[in-house]
Amino acid sequence: MSLVGLKGMSRERLVGLLDAAQSFLDASGKPRTPAWAQNLLADRAVGLLFFEPSTRTRVSFELAAKRLGATVINLNAYESSLKKGETVLDTVLNLEAMGMDVFVVRHGQRGIPAELDAGVRAPIVNAGDGTGEHPTQGLLDTLVLRRRLSDLGGAELAGRTITYIGDIKHSRVVRSGANALRTLGATVRLAGPDALLPEDASGWGGAEIVRGGRAEALRGADAVIVLRIQRERFPAGQLDEGGYGQGWRITREALEAEAKPDVWVLHPGPVIRGEEMEGEVADGDRSLILEQVSAGVAVRQAVLLDVLKVGVSWRQAMSRDA
Ligand code: CP
Repeated sequence: MSLVGLKGMSRERLVGLLDAAQSFLDASGKPRTPAWAQNLLADRAVGLLFFEPSTRTRVSFELAAKRLGATVINLNAYESSLKKGETVLDTVLNLEAMGMDVFVVRHGQRGIPAELDAGVRAPIVNAGDGTGEHPTQGLLDTLVLRRRLSDLGGAELAGRTITYIGDIKHSRVVRSGANALRTLGATVRLAGPDALLPEDASGWGGAEIVRGGRAEALRGADAVIVLRIQRERFPAGQLDEGGYGQGWRITREALEAEAKPDVWVLHPGPVIRGEEMEGEVADGDRSLILEQVSAGVAVRQAVLLDVLKVGVSWRQAMSRDA
């Protein structure tokens, strides 16, 4: 079974993935691979196909796969036969014919992972497709928030409010994360300047658009997920650049004046310091940014096991864990 998006994912699969990922984190939220898991993928080959730049997603998938014992092949799209005109589908079919077991794909064009999923037998994991989805980012954000905010009740984030702030319109991170957070019962709000907001919130997993300013967006939020302005996805001139910093940048002063004192601050990265967020907020004691990065390795381990149907009883595994 592939992982193309979180939209429509059952609560059962979502919670199963989060619980599995949790077993790859220690008590402080750092990644760890217990001995019982270190060879689970010993006979599997994982292909990483990144057609857009990445640091966190690509490296954490590689670490995740290698720590489970898999062979990892990084296809350099810029030096492959794609440059001679071969299609992405033909490339993947050829790699599959060599015996590769799963493909992790990032592409600037929305829908490419779904197209590949329809055309090859091996599972496809979407590592971000244009403005489409970024399911493993949505999972890791949800995992970190569940860890920090859950009351461990039946609906783990019920009663909690999570606000995404910044470039909502072009964000695949929101499209995935909002679905997962809503499934766990959170209220999800979307805020930013009009030029970076969708016209309506349909298709955003039941999230609400908060119109107005930064203060309205921050008010009452238990966590705020700050987003980079994705200039590569819209024409220059569409955004009032000067007004953005003044009205929307997340600063220490803004948090002190407009947010709850115990608000958590997240960012999927890369952070552009001084643009959507001040460096002192990114480095501050309410920031969970590096905890997100740690959770990314654990989530990708859980996802690889899930799509490759490597059956592990997590309760059993954890009981023999040391
Ligand atoms: N969050 C995220 O997708 O980061 P990268 O682009 O570095 O992978």
